[in-house]
This record gives sequence, C-alpha cells and structure tokens, in this order.
Amino acid sequence: MKTRLSVKRFPDPRLVWGQDSLEIPRSVSRFKGRGFFRFWIAACLVLVGCVPSEAPFSSGELPIPPLLEGEKKGDTRLFSLELQVGTKSFLPGKETPTWGVNGPFLGPTIRASKGEKVEIHVKNSLPEETTIHWHGLHIPAVMDGGPHQTIPVGSVWKPSFVIQQRASLNWYHPHPHGKTGEHVYKGIAGFFLIEDQVSQTLDLPKAYGVDDIPIVLQDKNFDAEGRFKYISGHMEQMVGVKGRHLLVNGAIFPVFQASASLLRLRLLNGSSGRFYNLGFEGGQEFRLIATEGGLVETPVALKRLLLAPGERAEIVIDLRQEAGKRWLLKSFSSETLALLDRDDPKGGMHADALDSTDFPVMTFEVSTSKGRSFDLPSRLTTLSPPSDKKVDETRRFVLDIKGPMGSKQDFTINDASMDMGRIDFSVKRGSTEIWEIKNISDMPHPFHIHGISFWILDRQGKPVAPYERGWKDTVFVHVEETVRLIATFDLPSDPKIPYMYHCHILEHEDAGMMGQFTVID
Ligand code: C2O
Ligand code: CU
Ligand code: CU
Repeated sequence: MKTRLSVKRFPDPRLVWGQDSLEIPRSVSRFKGRGFFRFWIAACLVLVGCVPSEAPFSSGELPIPPLLEGEKKGDTRLFSLELQVGTKSFLPGKETPTWGVNGPFLGPTIRASKGEKVEIHVKNSLPEETTIHWHGLHIPAVMDGGPHQTIPVGSVWKPSFVIQQRASLNWYHPHPHGKTGEHVYKGIAGFFLIEDQVSQTLDLPKAYGVDDIPIVLQDKNFDAEGRFKYISGHMEQMVGVKGRHLLVNGAIFPVFQASASLLRLRLLNGSSGRFYNLGFEGGQEFRLIATEGGLVETPVALKRLLLAPGERAEIVIDLRQEAGKRWLLKSFSSETLALLDRDDPKGGMHADALDSTDFPVMTFEVSTSKGRSFDLPSRLTTLSPPSDKKVDETRRFVLDIKGPMGSKQDFTINDASMDMGRIDFSVKRGSTEIWEIKNISDMPHPFHIHGISFWILDRQGKPVAPYERGWKDTVFVHVEETVRLIATFDLPSDPKIPYMYHCHILEHEDAGMMGQFTVID
C-alpha cells in the first residue's frame, strides 16, 4: 500500500526567477536600479502567487558549445575529449566547482557523418572513475559506454565505430553504475550530431551556432557558497532531483541574437528529473522537424512541446516577419502539472514550485533579418517504420516504485532492480520486437533503450500525435499508461556485453529502474 503525504506548496517567486530577486546586481538586472520597484513586484508575487512574464536576471548571451569536427586520420575521424574539473560562475559573484569536457562545464558538440569511421579518445582527468555513453548511437555494446565500460582515473578509453544511422540529434553523458545522476549534474554532457546525405541536401538551417542552435536544458540547485547541491535525499530520489535554477547551455535565462530568417533549435532535456512543456509567450507556432532519431516526414506545427529527461527534438522558428521583436521561450509547466501524479491534479509531492508555474527559459532577440529567406520543405523525408505484422518477439515491461513513501523504495522493471551481474534477456540479432511498457507507479517515467531507435506503435492502444511519429530512443510513459514500441535490433551480437534500458530520470536509473539485454546470433 502506498501512503501519500499532502504537502502544501506556494510558488516562491525567488524559485521562479531562478535567483533571489532582491540580490540582483544592477548591471545585469532588467529592472536596473529600481530596488524599490523590485521589492513591490516581489511582494506582489508573494501575495498573489503570480508569475512574471520576464525573469529579471540573465547571464547574457546564450553560450554555444564549441563544434568539434575532429581530425581526419586515414579513413577515420578522430575526436579527443578530456573529462576535467573546473570552476564556472553561474550566479553573480559566485564560483561553482564544476566538471566539464575540454573545458570547465559541459562539452563540445561532436559532429560526424553517416558512413564515417569515428574514433574517440576519452581521457578521464576527473578524481573518480566514470563512463561516457553515446546516447542515441547505434553501435556495438562494447563501445556504448554504459556502466560496464568504466574509464579509470587517469586513463584514456578509445572506442571506435562506424556511423551507420541516419542524421540525428544525439548526446553523450556519464553512465557509471549508481552515479549517473551525480556525474551529469556536475557538468559532463554534450551533443553528438550526425549528418547524412538527406540532412545535408535538404534546404534546412544548418550553419552551426548561426541558424542551427543546440540547446540543453538543465535545472540545478546551488548552496550558499554557489556550489552545486546535488542531494540524494530520499524525497529527491523518489521524484527525481529538481533545481530552482534553470541553466540553458550553462547560462541562466540567456539571450540569443537571431539574425537568421529561419532558426533551427536542437533541443535536449539534459535534466535529472524535470520535464518541460515548451512554448513561446505570445503563442507563436513553431514546427517540429525531427525527433531523437532524425527527421520526421513532414514538419509538424506546434505551440507546445513536452520534453522529458533524455528526450530531444528539433524545431524551426520562422522569424521572417519578426525583425526587432523578442520571442520568449517558456516552460508552460502549469498546463502539464496533472501529469506528475496519479491522484493529485496539482502534482502532489511530485511537483515543486516551478512545476506549478510557467517559467521563462530564454529569449530570442530578432535583429533585422540578414539571413537568406526560404521556406521549409513541406516534405522532409520518407520513413519506413518496422511493420507490426512481422514481429519476432513481444516483451512486457512493468515500471514500478515499490514500498511505502518515506522509507527506502525499490525502483523496478518487472519487479527487479538493476543488477550489474544479471542479463535480463537476449534479443536475436536482426529481429523485430514489440516492447510493451506499462507504468503502474504513481508518476511518469521516460523510458530509454540503448543501441537502437524505435517507433511508438501506440499509447493505450491509440495512435500517437504527429509530433511523436518519428524515430525515437526515449519515450515518456505516463501514469497508468501502456506504450508499445517497435524496433529492429540490427546490432552486432555480443553474448557477454549488454545494452541498457532504463528510466531516464537519472535518480530512478541510479536507484535501479534499469535492466540489461544482450544481442546474440
Ligand atoms: Cu542517456 Cu542509458 O542513457
Ligand atoms: Cu542511451
Ligand atoms: Cu522514473
């Protein structure tokens, strides 16, 4: 039996603004020098519980992760990554100890093409052993970077593989057993972009950092000294760690100066446990062009995009008539609050102050459009998902959180928690399988499978919305929902080394909501 606590929560405007609004340095405040004004705005927010449409503190320009195209060595493209410790200032006047890749925080964007042979040297200069997993890549299990491919302190891991999948938006992050959440939180994560003939020849925005913008969302907590506060208290493990401060590519409420007419945003939810319901303040439409595994067939017009931890999507915003205007990207989380809890439409104990509000993410300031003006192609590609008429195996997965709230709980898939020494099942190489994921716990879970892309057959027996009709590797499974996935396991066989499947709320993964499968001949 599950017991529930009812905790009353008031949105605290300081949480919403991602900053103590009374301590904002004048130079960066949008309410320059109006301390009196700020006080009354804050007071009004406390009283009314309303949310500002504009956050007062901004780190400034949106940082763009450096693009790493590697060096060509014969037929191989060689990339070098060094995992390292550093410091970075996120909050004014505070230095935060961080981890990063080739720099103090986050990592460069790796870009390679389909058909290329890639070798990556990952040097671990951190004080702890870790791993680097290539989330989204279709590669041999031994190269996957899951919890079995540890990189000891001071050593270099050298995975190499041929890129065999279509153009897609992937990412890399640590995956050490039981410590993924903590290592990602400290700052290790980066994009891994794959291009191909189709993506290169289609008329799409594709100038990296100019009209093709990677954006990673991560929420963090800081202590009084400005250090990251990753707590693994019981409650946070239960719901997933959520931060009061939203970092966008490592910056708080940044601004991107857009000069292009069409802007392509490659969005990644790189957070531990928070999901975002993205949209623009003025209700502007945008078009989704790709899911995690690449382009969808036709652009999908949307006003909202729900992105769970681990999920990615590419959208295009049309700024041709928008010169001189600002577009404010927000998370309309209040609209999706009810998804968080089985019994409480207000999210119960699974919601924090941000979840119950609509909070600002970043701003796009549109300068006089200098970029080439063009229409998005109306047709992007043709997809051929596996047919559910030719299925070799159907497997069922039940996600659950067991035990009374307030005590240690078990995070399980099919009644078992992760065991590094247990292979849960083997998939026959080249076979097509249906995986039926059923969530019987009282909160939603993003379910991720390593090594492959899948297609969502249905949710509760019903076809999915157009924005989910594409190749994916992570899928949000709502409370009391059953989602059926179909995939072909075109992966090299390896009877010993497994791939993972798990919940991408990192604290749930670390607590055991994960399993392992091998691919065999
Ligand atoms: Cu991004 Cu196994 O995870
Ligand atoms: Cu993965
Ligand atoms: Cu979960």
